Amino acid sequence: MIPRAPKGTDDLLPPASERWRRLLRVFDNLSVRYGYGLSMTPFFEATELFSRGVGEVTEIVEKQMYTFEDKGGRSLTLRPEATASVVRAYLQSGASGVLKVAYSGPMFRYEETQAGRRRQFYQVGVEYLGEPSADADVEVIELGYRFFQELGIDDVVVLLNSIGDPEDRIAYRGRLVAFLMERADRLSPDARRRIKGNPLRVLDSKADADVVAEAPAPGNHLGEAATEHFAAVQAGLKRRGVEYLLVPRLVRGLDYYNRTVFEYESRSYSAAQASLGAGGRYDPLAETLGGPPTPAVGFALGVDRIVLAMPEGDEAPPLDVFVAIVDQARRGDALDLVAKLRGEGLAADVDLGERSLKAQFRLADRRRARGVAVVGDEWDDGLVTVRRMDEGEETQVAIEEVVAWARNR
Ligand code: HAM
Repeated sequence: MIPRAPKGTDDLLPPASERWRRLLRVFDNLSVRYGYGLSMTPFFEATELFSRGVGEVTEIVEKQMYTFEDKGGRSLTLRPEATASVVRAYLQSGASGVLKVAYSGPMFRYEETQAGRRRQFYQVGVEYLGEPSADADVEVIELGYRFFQELGIDDVVVLLNSIGDPEDRIAYRGRLVAFLMERADRLSPDARRRIKGNPLRVLDSKADADVVAEAPAPGNHLGEAATEHFAAVQAGLKRRGVEYLLVPRLVRGLDYYNRTVFEYESRSYSAAQASLGAGGRYDPLAETLGGPPTPAVGFALGVDRIVLAMPEGDEAPPLDVFVAIVDQARRGDALDLVAKLRGEGLAADVDLGERSLKAQFRLADRRRARGVAVVGDEWDDGLVTVRRMDEGEETQVAIEEVVAWARNR
């Protein structure tokens, strides 16, 4: 039997992978335009990074981590997310001041699998470290918003909230715990267990939606500084034309956040995985990991979900030139021509299968080649027969003119 990919993982092959390619290109281009450098961090980290960074009493750390011991007896974990890693890398490098980075890559969470909810899934994200200004929140949220627009997903709305500063949450937490305790008999066992450890997480519990609907909301219990910050974020988003919706009970599944939290949701993509991406401000994280105070904000977007929401029609990009070989005696010349075209930055390909000329033209058609250059006997006279596929008409051009001909469409 042929081995199969593990449950909750996916293979990506053409033509489906072309959408991914387009998505990654758009993200790369956008993050360069917004001034984000590239960060790459290990796919596995010391387990402690996530239990401390993401939080002991979170779904991710309690239930979803791929944790193993290596041959040296270290406890390692396949990264369930990248924010903790980026902050670790920043602290470890001894850097200070502002760092703006973008990343993309696989993350690992042991989930109940379904469409758009995978055990190995792919995120693109940005992190903006070292900047406390609300304008950094606005820049990050706007970047994600533009990303969806440039992909052609134009029904994305930003769900927005502020969960305040840690000191605001002490008072709020007390009120929430009292509220939940009074209604403990109506709560799910998971929610009851969380009242003590992490009561904010109850707000996120689908099973407890009717109790949660009446619960005090973190967004309504902000201190002065957080209120001011949140007002500035909203004003900035309005000025940038970013559509957002205030959701006072929006909380996140990771413990490192303070103040601004947000999610990108597609209005038409109704599955349980409507959250195409999420992020927020996480000023406390660097200190949690033992570093100096480092304000920060960022997001991560779920590529597996986003490609499901992307408009159809992402085929492989067309070839500029397909080089056809009349007679295999000309094979070397044809390969020289292909190499030259590629060297000049054109997309060129050739059939190495010794097929008939007719079959090669069919192949060129399938590859959506804009032109075919036929290498035949006229090569000896310094000529190549060329055909534009839309017009069908053939002419001959000098070998050194083929590049110009291919460009000049
Ligand atoms: P998160 O909310 O855990 O945040 O994940 C962000 C996004 O990743 C989700 O909105 C979703 O689109 C996608 N995602 C999460 N789990 C899965 C899964 N099992 N299968 C497919 N997609 C999934 C974070 O990861 C934070 N690090 C975001 C962040 C960056 N905050 C600040 N900076």
